[in-house]
Amino acid sequence: MKGEVKMKSKMKWVGLIGIVLSAFSIFIHFLLARFTELGVSDYQSSITIFSWRPIFDKPDFPTNSASYRRLWGPVKRLESLYPDSNPRGDYSDPGSQTNGFIFVRIQGGFHEIRNSICDVVAISRLLNATLAMPEIQSTTSSKGISSQFKSFAYLYNEDQFIFSLAKDVKVVRTLPKYLKGARRKKEIPVFKVPHSASPFYYLRHVLPVLKKHSVVELVVSNGGCLQAILPPYFEEYQRLRCRVSFHALQFRQEVQELSAKILQRLRAPSRPFIAFDPGMTRESLAYHGCAELFQDVHTELIQHKRSWMIKRGIVKGKLSVNSAEARLNGSCPLMPEEIGILLRAYGYSKDAIIYVSGGEVFGGQRTLIPLHAMFDNVVDRTSLSTPWEMIKIYGKEVNLVNPPPGPPPFEEVKKLAAWKNAGPRPRPLPPPPARPKSYNIEGWWGWVAESDNEPDSTVMELRTNAHKLLWEAIDYLICVEADVFIPGFDRDGKGHSNFASLVMGHRLYQSAASKTFRPDRKEAAKLVDEIRDHMYQANRTWLKSVRRHLRKTLLDGIIEASSKSKPLSFLSHPVPECSCSRHDTSFEASKNSSSKLSSQVSTTLGVTHQCPAWMDTGPISQLKDKENEDDGDEDDSLSGLFFRQSGGNNEGDGDVNAKEENQFEDQEELEGGEK
Ligand SMILES: *[C@@H]1O[C@H](CO)[C@@H](O)[C@H](O)[C@H]1NC(C)=O
Ligand SMILES: *[C@@H]1O[C@H](CO)[C@@H](O)[C@H](O)[C@H]1NC(C)=O
Ligand SMILES: *[C@@H]1O[C@H](CO)[C@@H](O)[C@H](O)[C@H]1NC(C)=O
Ligand SMILES: *[C@@H]1O[C@H](CO)[C@@H](O)[C@H](O)[C@H]1NC(C)=O
Repeated sequence: MKGEVKMKSKMKWVGLIGIVLSAFSIFIHFLLARFTELGVSDYQSSITIFSWRPIFDKPDFPTNSASYRRLWGPVKRLESLYPDSNPRGDYSDPGSQTNGFIFVRIQGGFHEIRNSICDVVAISRLLNATLAMPEIQSTTSSKGISSQFKSFAYLYNEDQFIFSLAKDVKVVRTLPKYLKGARRKKEIPVFKVPHSASPFYYLRHVLPVLKKHSVVELVVSNGGCLQAILPPYFEEYQRLRCRVSFHALQFRQEVQELSAKILQRLRAPSRPFIAFDPGMTRESLAYHGCAELFQDVHTELIQHKRSWMIKRGIVKGKLSVNSAEARLNGSCPLMPEEIGILLRAYGYSKDAIIYVSGGEVFGGQRTLIPLHAMFDNVVDRTSLSTPWEMIKIYGKEVNLVNPPPGPPPFEEVKKLAAWKNAGPRPRPLPPPPARPKSYNIEGWWGWVAESDNEPDSTVMELRTNAHKLLWEAIDYLICVEADVFIPGFDRDGKGHSNFASLVMGHRLYQSAASKTFRPDRKEAAKLVDEIRDHMYQANRTWLKSVRRHLRKTLLDGIIEASSKSKPLSFLSHPVPECSCSRHDTSFEASKNSSSKLSSQVSTTLGVTHQCPAWMDTGPISQLKDKENEDDGDEDDSLSGLFFRQSGGNNEGDGDVNAKEENQFEDQEELEGGEK
């Protein structure tokens, strides 16, 4: 008996030890698994992080095929264009004596701030004045914003700004004490400067006052305060604008670092990417009368904005506009769906990476659904960063006691009353009452920073507006670096040039040859409408005309921009003032090479300035064999492939598509090689 009990207790012990051991081993196992997982995810963190899981049809990505060059390669004819914004004639340092201080308050969004800063620097130089660090108003000086970064420094790097402009204008961080006091007492003369004032406005009206009081305050509120196109003898001021925009205005370090990280994640799969800026802000849609391209509540919200703008004299037209007509004559943004169709038709495969930029995409995710359906890898800032990384760049912000969850529902009712009184107009049914506006609030896309009564924005909205500046800063850097850029629209809510125009200007300056499509919206709308009803049977003729059109815009779009965009904003087209052309002498002998073609382009753009000798680091890439790629008749290789699946048969098209695209590209490659 006793022995049995002993035996039993022994067994118990053994069992217990066994259990403990296995528990321990499981624990270790988990620990190890945890660690290895961590290790692995760290190792791969640059690839499968966040909400983006890259999907590629083919593991390899040949970069030397003709189709690669057609889709991603540089535009050869623009390869001789280089950035050169250094002064070209006699250019003196800012003299020791100054006519006084210029203090600037800037109001507006990202692109308006950037334009304005360049203008006020040019004006300071023109008036021989000392510039106090511009103050960015309302967006960055409210109490909801981190006090860590003040005004200009919220977005840009002050030291870099001062240092980089040392040879152009004197810049001080703040006004001297006695002037600050005077400013507080409102004893400083203030000019609300017009949007595109001529230099003579400043010489005639501002300079005498500046000399008398030795300080003036300028209020810039419409995204610029100096004419875009200046008389020829002011050319150095244009180059100064370029130096400010492309060299002196660097984002704050934290913003630069996060952008670099995002860019690195975007490039982690070692594939090129397209940046797409939809430019669909509620204001620009309202200004251009594009309300009816949307439905229901969106239409009404745009119309509400438009009536608000008409009341304030921002919009001169009627409240109701035939949006379909406006779209057909190119006054409305191209929708993400239309951009998607054009890109697919041009030949970008379903797995191409598309970065969607923009602080606001009106209509929210809903308008992006078709783009997501056409491309697997549609990403944006939020899918390539963590909320924590974003919060870090905002700086320390006080907790808002009760962040309002969105406009209260009764506002909706008020609006409806206003619409009812707005006069007859064919309008869709009012939104169903059971669904309050909040269903549109979808992360950053949807209803961010919207307020119907502009003056009394809530603290939360002001804060979001400030954050939007940082988001756009990140998007700006990524769009400038992108292998391919395509804008949906190039006008803002005041009819001026927008964010995308600035990006295109920057790309033209910095890397003229990088691919920037500038679709002619009129033409594009027509092309898309042609196959709207039978998209899956797009024929060769149609595909060819899309390709021809898009390729044409690579060059002709630039030439057109010099007559259409430049008068609105110099920075959207800083050519020829800020560029130089590099002719390769080794090509002079064989006159038939494309160096002749590229010099033709330079001439058309008016770039006559030869690049300084130090830029001649080597011959321009050998163009001989490739030159026809830009003239491109290789379209013959089209095999009528586009969205092949017929009708509702969406399943399993991936496989077929991949195969067919493969075939398609092989064919193209073959033909490219034959030439
Ligand atoms: C600014 O200074 C330059 C040289 O120092 C002088 O030629 C020019 O007339 C001055 N302009 C004004 C507006 O004072
Ligand atoms: C569109 O048409 C209107 C008149 O219907 C015209 O005033 C406007 O200039 C046109 N816009 C463009 C971009 O052609
Ligand atoms: C090709 O498609 C376009 C637009 O769908 C149509 O207008 C044209 O007639 C078609 N051409 C041929 C040859 O089928
Ligand atoms: C250049 O083209 C012309 C005809 O346009 C031809 O006569 C000439 O031989 C070509 N020169 C060279 C170097 O290819």
